[in-house]
Amino acid sequence: MTRAKIELGDVTPHNIKQLKKLNTVVFPVSYNERFYKDVLEVGELAKLAYYNDIVVGAVCCRIDNAETARRLYIMTLGCLSPYRRLGIGSMMVQHVLSYVEKDGNYDNIYLHVQVNNIGAIEFYKKFGFEIHETRKHYYKRIEPADAYVLQKTLRTTSAPTAAPLTNGIGNHHSDK
Ligand SMILES: CC(C)(COP(=O)(O)OP(=O)(O)OC[C@H]1O[C@@H](n2cnc3c(N)ncnc32)[C@H](O)[C@@H]1OP(=O)(O)O)[C@@H](O)C(=O)NCCC(=O)NCCS
Repeated sequence: MTRAKIELGDVTPHNIKQLKKLNTVVFPVSYNERFYKDVLEVGELAKLAYYNDIVVGAVCCRIDNAETARRLYIMTLGCLSPYRRLGIGSMMVQHVLSYVEKDGNYDNIYLHVQVNNIGAIEFYKKFGFEIHETRKHYYKRIEPADAYVLQKTLRTTSAPTAAPLTNGIGNHHSDK
């Protein structure tokens, strides 16, 4: 049996509809047009994951230049359920980790996850993420409404750790 081919590809205006469809299926919150407009501008920080040439996963990040730290925010990272536990999520995280490592100028990487999403929490822990804080009532339309902020520290700064978690741009959930 030949091994499956798993690879990452760019998000472009030609395939952005596939990203929208995927995010709609994988995440319980919806993302607005601004989210997808920004995704087209971030280059390597947004990728589609292909399994034998079929789109099965995607990662979308943005740079968060908070006052006290340079942070990378993972807005979405997900894989269709039949294609989980095949290393696709790991490939997407590794891509993001090598991006920040190459850049060398990030303090941390973070994301929000619903507190009951044990699988995702275990997944991120494997890559050195830790529960940094709990955001009560973070989600408006789903239960449980609380989120953990998972964070991987890349370098420690002299700045206080209680830095703002997002900048003024917001997270672009239209249905958080
Ligand atoms: C979290 C998610 C991205 C993981 O993707 P994946 O492709 O299944 O991950 P991988 O196959 O690379 O898993 C790597 C390791 O993470 C851990 N892991 C992954 N899913 C896990 C789960 N459900 N329970 C426990 N550990 C898990 C395992 O150690 C796994 O290694 P193993 O399969 O050899 O045991 C996927 O479950 C997903 O899309 N979930 C829905 C979206 C989401 O919640 N995203 C997180 C918020 S952005």
